[in-house]
Amino acid sequence: MLLEWKGFVQNRSQAMNVIRFSDLCASGQARDKRVFIRADLNVPQDDAGHITEDTRIRASVPCIQMALQAGAAVMVTSHLGRPTEGEFKPEDSLAPVAKRLGELLGRDVPLVSNWVDGVTIAPGQVVLLENCRLNVGEKKNKEELARKLAALCDIFVHDAFGTAHRAEGTTYGIAQYAPVACAGPLLAAEIDAITQALANPKRPLAAIVAGSKVSTKLTILQSLAKNVDQLIVGGGIANTFMLAAGLKIGKSLAEPDLLGEATAVIAAMKARGAEVPIPTDVVVAKTFAIDAPATVKKATEVDDDDLILDIGPETAARLATQLKAAGTIVWNGPVGVFEFPAFENGTKVIAQAIAESSAFSIAGGGDTLAAIAKYGIEKQVGYISTGGGAFLEVLEGKTLPAFEILARRASEQ
Ligand code: 3PG
Repeated sequence: MLLEWKGFVQNRSQAMNVIRFSDLCASGQARDKRVFIRADLNVPQDDAGHITEDTRIRASVPCIQMALQAGAAVMVTSHLGRPTEGEFKPEDSLAPVAKRLGELLGRDVPLVSNWVDGVTIAPGQVVLLENCRLNVGEKKNKEELARKLAALCDIFVHDAFGTAHRAEGTTYGIAQYAPVACAGPLLAAEIDAITQALANPKRPLAAIVAGSKVSTKLTILQSLAKNVDQLIVGGGIANTFMLAAGLKIGKSLAEPDLLGEATAVIAAMKARGAEVPIPTDVVVAKTFAIDAPATVKKATEVDDDDLILDIGPETAARLATQLKAAGTIVWNGPVGVFEFPAFENGTKVIAQAIAESSAFSIAGGGDTLAAIAKYGIEKQVGYISTGGGAFLEVLEGKTLPAFEILARRASEQ
């Protein structure tokens, strides 16, 4: 019944146990029970409110089906965006999500508003409770709200990995007071994948951390530097590391004030016999534009007016060889401006190498998912995380509030 998760860096020795909803269902403990599922159905919409990407809704279906098949009365909720509490606006409504969820489940999913003081529902039924961030006290996890939420159910199921880094009413407070608080199958799958990748990795363990700024991913870099065998940096982050390695980067995006930190990461990796592969060639342009002429250069020959917009083919091929030989790969961030065809090669080569590698791979983050979709490698990535900020906080080695409270409740059983 208990699921063991070992936090991968700071908490390596600290086993974390949470109750799995699948075990409760398998043992008949969910039958005729009121089950409250916190999902993350925060999906992108266009200006007309149409859902443009429904991965998170599809990912929430197994938990809901599991609860229905177990004979539970099922309430599901999620946030959508960041509305003002107590002020309903039509654009904050989960109505489009209810419709899409109904299509995926093959049944009507009624949307219930003003639900905090009571929900009428019978076993075998499912309802979607309107945007939980409209409830006053949700964001700050006010005790009065949390106790009301908990009173709605017999079993609270946290299945919202994308929101597992938030300690709000429906992600934390309800778990404090509900009779039973457990992890849904999506949350459990995320824990399993993260454990496989970071706590018990098949080595070599390679991590790709790319993005525009070292400052936004410094804690991740420092945390991974204690664990991984190759720390591949890309984008503006790689530029700062190139500066730290004594290379010129022209007018490329970089953070010179973080040179000390970049140098320390390189030194920490070297001291462990691990490495931060620094690009040996790059693709440059004179302007940041989709039609800017691209030039491949040695990393030692970057001019003062050059902008580095991708890694060069020699670097990409070298990294691809390393990725194909890896035992585990963690991917967060494209290594170049892959939205511009002239500067997409590095990201494309890396994506293809991950697809061809026999390594277990885990990927997360909005840009990374866009690159995975662009190169059509969804099926070849071992696990694609539904978390944005939550995935990054896990890479930082943090224990997410969702896991902390679920583990605490499990230890009280
Ligand atoms: C996300 O989109 O990353 C999650 O749904 C969390 O949303 P939030 O940053 O508004 O809490």
